[in-house]
Amino acid sequence: MRWPLKAWRAMFAPDPQPFKPAQDMSPQLARGAYLVEGLGHCGACHTPRSITLQEKALSDRDGTLFLSGGGAIDG
Ligand code: HEC
Repeated sequence: MRWPLKAWRAMFAPDPQPFKPAQDMSPQLARGAYLVEGLGHCGACHTPRSITLQEKALSDRDGTLFLSGGGAIDG
């Protein structure tokens, strides 16, 4: 599993960055975004994935698909 993941990461997550809030975010909003985009990784299940299985958006900044709903789970 390791070597295929290495190829997948090179394509879809080549250079992971630490969380950085948008400049116009209030401290409260930044804290929430940090929890949802970082620690909670909520998009893993609540954001649609492409055919190659990467999340189509990783934050609000990537467009309207972020947290727009994942696929059906177990029907
Ligand atoms: C491992 C997959 C997974 C992750 C990660 C995840 N969720 Fe969920 N979430 C689900 C599933 C599955 C449901 C539906 C549960 C059900 O209906 O019984 C759900 C339901 C919800 C609901 C209720 C939605 C509704 O319409 O009733 C909310 C709100 C929610 N999640 C928020 C979050 C937040 C916030 C995070 C990140 C901190 C998060 N989820 C991370 C899988 C996940």
